[in-house]
Amino acid sequence: MPAIQVTEVTVAYDAWPVLRSVSFELRPKQMLAIIGPNGAGKSTLLRAILGLQRLDYGRILVFGRPVRQARQRIAYIPQIETVDWDFPVTAQDVVLMGRMGLKGWTGRPNREDRNIAAHAMERVGMTDFSQRHIRRLSGGQQRRVFIARALAQQAELMLMDEPFASVDAITEQAILDLIDQLSKEGSTVVVVNHDFHILDRFARVLLLNQRVVAFGSPGEVVTEQNLQATYGGRLSLLQQADESLRVRMKYDDGHTVRTNSD
Ligand SMILES: Nc1ncnc2c1ncn2[C@@H]1O[C@H](COP(=O)(O)OP(=O)(O)OP(=O)(O)O)[C@@H](O)[C@H]1O
Ligand SMILES: [Mg+2]
Repeated sequence: MPAIQVTEVTVAYDAWPVLRSVSFELRPKQMLAIIGPNGAGKSTLLRAILGLQRLDYGRILVFGRPVRQARQRIAYIPQIETVDWDFPVTAQDVVLMGRMGLKGWTGRPNREDRNIAAHAMERVGMTDFSQRHIRRLSGGQQRRVFIARALAQQAELMLMDEPFASVDAITEQAILDLIDQLSKEGSTVVVVNHDFHILDRFARVLLLNQRVVAFGSPGEVVTEQNLQATYGGRLSLLQQADESLRVRMKYDDGHTVRTNSD
């Protein structure tokens, strides 16, 4: 049974389609990277998988069920810029929320929940900031708190919207290590990102620009032709991708070379 099954999903804002007949399937434990330009519909697709976005057409199943029945099995790390911090919570409260979803709103955190939350904070190096109001943390620190919340939730499916935006190199590496570890522990991980040089770690890449431009292994998907189709031939970007991802160049006689040594 697929972890995520997206079938002909179409979403429009004010009759303006932002996702057009998007279909793909991801097996449990597979890691998926979603890439595409600003406004391509990446965040909208994640929200749709979470059941936070009304579909105009199509269907999404998570672990073979409608999303609302699978909701507790999904952790979500939103794009930080979109989070409203207008409520009075500490970093620790945010992480504990990851436990509360499992118990429903009437539950209270017990000792085990607190231990799991503390351990998650430790894993992202945020123990010293537990009691700090979330709004008084830097962007990268807030992101780590969200990752700790997702870890505490022990979710089978992890959705991350641009976890690498505005983090330093050490945090980026920490997030990559966590993703690898989650994957080893059996979670299915979906990551929206703009970074081409990490795509080799993912089993599947979805190139999105309202439609699915390409879906498959990194080697199949990241070709110059597909990048042109996704990014509309913005050359500086293509060159960057080219340098960092060994884009395969196909020649007329059919032979393929890679632009970097690999
Ligand atoms: N609530 C909304 N109402 C109307 N239009 C919206 C809304 N949210 C997003 N959009 C539009 O839908 C399109 C897709 O937005 P989305 O946030 O999914 O893009 P994205 O691929 O995540 O972009 P980015 O890389 O900038 O995060 C954009 O054109 C955006 O302006
Ligand atoms: Mg987005």
